Amino acid sequence: MQKFRITGGLSLKGEIEVSSAKNSILPIIAATILCDDECVIENFPILEDVSVICDVLRSLNVDVKADVVDSILKINGKSMHSLNLSENLIRKMRASFLVLGPLLSRFGKARVYMPGGCNIGLRPIDLHLKGLSALGADISIVDGCVEISAKKLIGSTVYLDFPSVGATENLIMAATLAEGKTVIENAAKEPEIIDLAIFINGMGGDIEGAGTSRIVIHGVKKLKGVRHVPIYDRIEAGTYIALAAITKSKIKIKGVNEEYLRPIISKFYEMGLKINFDGSDIIVDGNVDLKPINIKTLPHPGFPTDMQPQFMSLLSLVSGTSTIVETIFENRFMHVMELRRMGANISIYDRVAVIDGVKSFVPSRVKATDLRAGAALILAALSCKGESEITDIYHIDRGYAQIENKLKNLNAKIVRIDE
Ligand code: UD1
Repeated sequence: MQKFRITGGLSLKGEIEVSSAKNSILPIIAATILCDDECVIENFPILEDVSVICDVLRSLNVDVKADVVDSILKINGKSMHSLNLSENLIRKMRASFLVLGPLLSRFGKARVYMPGGCNIGLRPIDLHLKGLSALGADISIVDGCVEISAKKLIGSTVYLDFPSVGATENLIMAATLAEGKTVIENAAKEPEIIDLAIFINGMGGDIEGAGTSRIVIHGVKKLKGVRHVPIYDRIEAGTYIALAAITKSKIKIKGVNEEYLRPIISKFYEMGLKINFDGSDIIVDGNVDLKPINIKTLPHPGFPTDMQPQFMSLLSLVSGTSTIVETIFENRFMHVMELRRMGANISIYDRVAVIDGVKSFVPSRVKATDLRAGAALILAALSCKGESEITDIYHIDRGYAQIENKLKNLNAKIVRIDE
């Protein structure tokens, strides 16, 4: 187990580069097995979750070569044979379940262990299964495993009760090699869905409407290999904007665009933060007094749940009362306990957090309870004078590539320590 020791209270300065999006590359890596050619993914982020999904493919006998020096992943599913995904790999990362759609699409069957809930919520898979069943799949749950098969997948219209990101991705991948036309109504509209569609269309797929609530997939017979660079990580970028604000620093954040960040920056603007776009860079000057705001997490293009904990840290230091309503995950306030340990004044009423601003955090030893909770604690620790420790940082390594090196470039004092 490792922990971060952070000496906070310093003013940060300089540039920070945003990596490719974790939530883009995971489904894209799963989609590579839709063909039996080599796919090349450039600029892949060195993240624990990326290692896990690569291990998932290796366990299916897919050839995966990761060149960490040039950040290039080469994946070839030609010799793939196993269609069983172990419990261990699903337990390590829920997103491993994304191989279900491609396996079914290419091989007509799969056996994948059921993902359980996780720290932030129950996270059922009913929408994934309902959608695949509408395409003609037979599904049974045996000894905790989803056994799925279809002689032939046939295009259909699927209405998602909720615009689930993972269900939309699994359905797109399953429908790509199905016969005829599939329509996904009330689909998720996240930028990462658009990226997946661009990737599959590059392989020869025929997907229209990604990024809207109605996605139309015309099934094709075969796909070929493709080269792709995933989009940038909008949640990582948003975390660094919050970092500039909470440390009252001026930081340049590189490799982003305005479009994908809009739901996040509109809340920063409402607080009074100054953000200047300059091509693919943004410059944030955090040296301003911020105003309290009200936030409600929603599916895209609403405010993303993955930025909720980071805003919670920032709002904890804003004079006045702010509120956050979490509508996506039922248990995503675990960071509140840790932020309270650091002196935050937050009350929880079911899914509503009421945050009364305090002058500063108090350096403490706290625990990262999940990925974005860990990011929120890094922000809190960097904002306050003195030494804090964050334990269980394997959660942070799942989604922030080389975070301590990036932060050190900004003059932050952060060290990784083996416990
Ligand atoms: C993805 C993201 C995650 C983000 C989340 C919401 C990846 C790898 N992860 O997760 O970072 O926080 O979107 O933006 O891209 N649900 C059901 N039944 C289902 C599927 C989902 O009820 O079959 C519910 C979930 O329990 C949750 C809500 O729908 O309450 C949203 O989940 P979903 O959009 O599926 O999130 P993920 O794809 O798991």
